Amino acid sequence: MKSDLLVIIVSLLLTITLTTAQTFKCSTTATCQSLIDYVSPNATTLSEIKTLFGVKNLRSILGANNLPLSTSQNHPVPAKNTIKIPFPCKCSNGSGISNSVPVYTVKLGDGLDHIARDIFAGLLKYEQIVSVNNITNPNLIQVGQKLWIPLPCSCDPVNGTEVVHYGHVVAKGSTVEGIALEFGTSAETLLSLNGLADANKLQAGDVLDVPMSVCTSTINNTSADYPLLVPKDTYTLTANNCVQCKCGILNNSTLLQCVPSLNEVKVTKWSQCPSMQCKGAGALTLGNTSYSAGCNAVCSYAGYTTNETILTTLVTDPTCAANGVPPPGSHANKIGMRGSNWSWFLASLHLGLLFFGLV
Ligand SMILES: *[C@@H]1O[C@H](CO)[C@@H](O)[C@H](O)[C@H]1NC(C)=O
Ligand SMILES: *[C@@H]1O[C@H](CO)[C@@H](O)[C@H](O)[C@H]1NC(C)=O
Ligand SMILES: *[C@@H]1O[C@H](CO)[C@@H](O)[C@H](O)[C@H]1NC(C)=O
Ligand SMILES: *[C@@H]1O[C@H](CO)[C@@H](O)[C@H](O)[C@H]1NC(C)=O
Ligand SMILES: *[C@@H]1O[C@H](CO)[C@@H](O)[C@H](O)[C@H]1NC(C)=O
Ligand SMILES: *[C@@H]1O[C@H](CO)[C@@H](O)[C@H](O)[C@H]1NC(C)=O
Ligand SMILES: *[C@@H]1O[C@H](CO)[C@@H](O)[C@H](O)[C@H]1NC(C)=O
Ligand SMILES: *[C@@H]1O[C@H](CO)[C@@H](O)[C@H](O)[C@H]1NC(C)=O
Ligand SMILES: *[C@@H]1O[C@H](CO)[C@@H](O)[C@H](O)[C@H]1NC(C)=O
Ligand SMILES: *[C@@H]1O[C@H](CO)[C@@H](O)[C@H](O)[C@H]1NC(C)=O
Ligand SMILES: *[C@@H]1O[C@H](CO)[C@@H](O)[C@H](O)[C@H]1NC(C)=O
Repeated sequence: MKSDLLVIIVSLLLTITLTTAQTFKCSTTATCQSLIDYVSPNATTLSEIKTLFGVKNLRSILGANNLPLSTSQNHPVPAKNTIKIPFPCKCSNGSGISNSVPVYTVKLGDGLDHIARDIFAGLLKYEQIVSVNNITNPNLIQVGQKLWIPLPCSCDPVNGTEVVHYGHVVAKGSTVEGIALEFGTSAETLLSLNGLADANKLQAGDVLDVPMSVCTSTINNTSADYPLLVPKDTYTLTANNCVQCKCGILNNSTLLQCVPSLNEVKVTKWSQCPSMQCKGAGALTLGNTSYSAGCNAVCSYAGYTTNETILTTLVTDPTCAANGVPPPGSHANKIGMRGSNWSWFLASLHLGLLFFGLV
């Protein structure tokens, strides 16, 4: 008797959720940072969103949405607004899901389908909650039970370039072409990445895997925040909040722009921020620019070490390419952004390192 009833309820659930499971391909075995859209069903606040998604710091939400650091946690988010959520991604078995977050605590009256569809705004299917939480009976969840909500993500490079994968919720009336244009990728890439045979199959509410370009950076691979992938039009705080890095891609300059965060946020772990001067470059501090040898050079962020050291390096502005240093051409595809002049940037970086006798 009882099992018959369960079968009926389960099949009812299945008829409402016929669309395919939303998972992103990920062939690497890696962890990385990802982004996903949350379209608030009801009016809410940044603080409630932060709690729902288990985001540690409000400022990572602020950075992902390019909102000022001074934004209050009570900042209202009207219904149907889209907020980008930053979260850690873990890949295994060919797909990526959020790494052990968010964790949702079941409330009275919740069903798995309601949790997936309404509370997490359809970013996943309830079957995926069943699967990662080893739920044997989807109709039997307990009030107070903690559920891991597996959001789709990926860590794969796209066309040989590091990107940040962004789960974009398709709005009514948008097209693959339009989305590609908006996020600086191609329709072909979106179709192949998402296994879409036909651009017309795109539906409002689909979660599309969009590879976001990231700024080139001079970060040392020994740095605690390596590889520091900051997508276009976002910023991040790093080096225990001592450094603020933004990726704006103004003037076709794709170099990550980092400055001391000064008094805007509280320093963590360290008692105070260490020196951020570029050694041997006069009084240049992180983010300062100087003009020498016909080129602008900027004191750039190169990482930090746990023993209270912030690494810096002087980088010649890639836009002074016209002055004629030939590109080295080798090992250039490791970093950088599609369509940008990163070979010039690397040439400049090399010169910058020569300047300090590092190479
Ligand atoms: C990975 O996939 C294989 C076969 O598809 C399966 O046996 C295994 O349990 C999966 N591992 C994980 C961690 O999901
Ligand atoms: C949004 O509001 C409606 C009506 O008050 C409520 O039924 C629903 O559960 C709310 N959704 C969320 C995700 O809080
Ligand atoms: C689900 O089961 C697998 C294998 O039995 C185990 O590795 C995993 O930790 C379990 N997950 C949870 C959330 O209990
Ligand atoms: C790589 O880029 C080309 C266009 O430049 C595109 O057709 C192709 O689908 C891309 N590959 C992937 C895996 O996205
Ligand atoms: C990276 O950092 C380490 C120590 O922090 C240093 O020894 C090394 O020279 C740096 N590499 C580059 C390319 O700057
Ligand atoms: C770091 O970079 C150096 C020089 O580019 C390279 O030789 C080394 O293998 C890299 N180390 C790691 C851990 O990637
Ligand atoms: C971009 O270029 C304009 C005009 O050439 C200049 O005024 C502006 O400062 C530049 N911005 C950056 C971030 O370099
Ligand atoms: C950036 O580069 C593109 C082509 O590479 C060019 O069309 C555009 O005008 C450039 N923008 C600026 C601000 O220089
Ligand atoms: C260097 O940048 C700091 C802020 O980061 C600024 O206060 C200072 O005036 C700049 N110095 C020069 C020489 O540009
Ligand atoms: C921190 O460690 C680096 C090497 O990892 C070393 O070069 C540097 O001198 C150390 N700094 C301090 C303040 O101990
Ligand atoms: C890179 O710089 C070279 C030399 O200034 C220029 O000819 C080329 O168009 C630039 N490429 C891009 C993609 O901006």
